[in-house]
Amino acid sequence: MMADVLLEITALSRAFGGLRAVDDVTAEIRQGELVGLIGPNGAGKTTLFNLISGFTPPSSGSVVFRGQNLAGMKPHQVSRLGMARTFQNLRIFPNMTVFDNVSVGAIGALGYGLGQGLFGGAKRAGEISARAWSALERVGLANLAGELAANLSYGKRKYLEIARALATDPVLLILDEPAAGLNDTETAELAHFIKSLHADGGTILLVEHDMGLVMSICQRVMVLASGAKIADAAPKVVQADPAVLEAYLGIDEEEDA
Ligand SMILES: Nc1ncnc2c1ncn2[C@@H]1O[C@H](COP(=O)(O)OP(=O)(O)O)[C@@H](O)[C@H]1O
Ligand SMILES: [Mg+2]
Repeated sequence: MMADVLLEITALSRAFGGLRAVDDVTAEIRQGELVGLIGPNGAGKTTLFNLISGFTPPSSGSVVFRGQNLAGMKPHQVSRLGMARTFQNLRIFPNMTVFDNVSVGAIGALGYGLGQGLFGGAKRAGEISARAWSALERVGLANLAGELAANLSYGKRKYLEIARALATDPVLLILDEPAAGLNDTETAELAHFIKSLHADGGTILLVEHDMGLVMSICQRVMVLASGAKIADAAPKVVQADPAVLEAYLGIDEEEDA
């Protein structure tokens, strides 16, 4: 294994009943890469993502992150190894402030129980607070720190979800369909933001239904279709790949909205 490989996925499969949602996928992500994972609706993107982050156990195959086999690990254990994710369906706490939503992310990553994080003394509280502020500043929400999350626009809630992941100071950041529900202007802003995270040294896996976003910013694009990886190459190569075009043919783009 190359020294700079962060994530190594080998022969990974997951079946739901008779359906192979992820089918014998082998892939790797290296330090500093911005990689896209695309595929038609139902291709298995979210399932692969859940396998990588410990939310779903595999039927077979392995995931190795920073040299450690993740078999049997719970999501919070994977998170403490330095993998952070966002969710396709936002999982923020609407009745908590923006700041507290982000603090929860930092508490989890620092390995404190909730009680310890919130009441564990000034040093820990200071560390959590510093991480939360830094993440909020990064996504441009520091001025809304005291606002209830429920009062944020949908677009801003997306950035809040990303801030929560950033507060864990991740080694690998995985974003699940961050552009879903955003208009063209918001999607362009998000593309710019993701590129800036990458330029700052972040390693990012971008899971997206929106081909345009992925093709415009990613260095390498992996394509899933019916659970299998059918392409893994530079955007230009993938765009010209007949198997990829065929996988997307007849797919109603509106269905995913
Ligand atoms: N928990 C589950 N139980 C049963 N089937 C599932 C489950 N999760 C996903 N699937 C099925 O697995 C396939 C892949 O789904 P998913 O990973 O959500 O695809 P994508 O994110 O690419 O749209 C779909 O056919 C979906 O219905
Ligand atoms: Mg999905």
